[in-house]
Amino acid sequence: MLNKLLFHRFPNLKSWLTRIQYDLITKFDRGNEVLFMNFGYAHPEPIPLSPEEEYHRYPLQMYHKVADHHGVNWQNAEALEVSSGRGGGASFIVRHFKPRSYAGLDFSARAVEYCRKQYQHLKELSFHHGNAEEIPFADESFDVVVNVEASLYYPNPHRFFEHVRRVLKPNGYFLYTDLRYEEKVAVWREQIKAIGLKLVYEEDITDNVLRAMDLDRERRKALVDRYVPRFLRRQFYHFAGLAMDNIASTPHLEKRRYWYFVLQKA
Ligand SMILES: C[S@@+](CC[C@H](N)C(=O)[O-])C[C@H]1O[C@@H](n2cnc3c(N)ncnc32)[C@H](O)[C@@H]1O
Repeated sequence: MLNKLLFHRFPNLKSWLTRIQYDLITKFDRGNEVLFMNFGYAHPEPIPLSPEEEYHRYPLQMYHKVADHHGVNWQNAEALEVSSGRGGGASFIVRHFKPRSYAGLDFSARAVEYCRKQYQHLKELSFHHGNAEEIPFADESFDVVVNVEASLYYPNPHRFFEHVRRVLKPNGYFLYTDLRYEEKVAVWREQIKAIGLKLVYEEDITDNVLRAMDLDRERRKALVDRYVPRFLRRQFYHFAGLAMDNIASTPHLEKRRYWYFVLQKA
């Protein structure tokens, strides 16, 4: 409830609190276990993963879902991920889809610092500190822009969309997934159609996300219990997609719907 009020009435305050929360995750994660921060995606056919990747299966499958669009020629791509968080998705895409280069951008300075150290062995990867609403890259510099579960925190998503259109090269792809409260979905889809990019594909993936949250709940709860001080746990259970009132109850997205979009600069 408080969350919803913040989202709707005070988006700048919400954005500021979000930055503190994501900075705290980097501070708390002493075991280096939080490489992804999305709710996850349950694939109808689970993708084959290495033993190290298996621990991150559901949030990693979200990245696989987003990146695996047949139109994208990853092998020659210069890609940008806006709100790359702890870099798990960036590292996965670089290893599995093999773009020429992949830049991650995030407004959490701690997350960027963490990623620069954690992934220094992947030469195609670079991490940059900056705001999604003022993307610090030149016009027409990327073949692909990726954005996973982050634009809900941006106070002015239309500014982000304008920058995406600006930094994409002609024919470049915008691979985008996020969630919105049910009553806001229609407006959101109109905003997306108004970006000035061609909508190539769209899908409501809420059921896959809910299924992932269910399958991944014990891991998420254990993570919060292990690293977060007791007095902050309620807030972090909520953040990790565990119900706030009763963490044993069925996962839910607070009446939000999760969508996946593929757009192209035609
Ligand atoms: C839910 S996390 C998702 C991170 C990553 N995409 C993933 O799936 O693991 C949201 C991310 O958005 C970033 N973020 C929120 N507002 C931002 C903004 N205005 N500009 C850039 N990054 C932002 C946060 O720092 C955080 O890393």
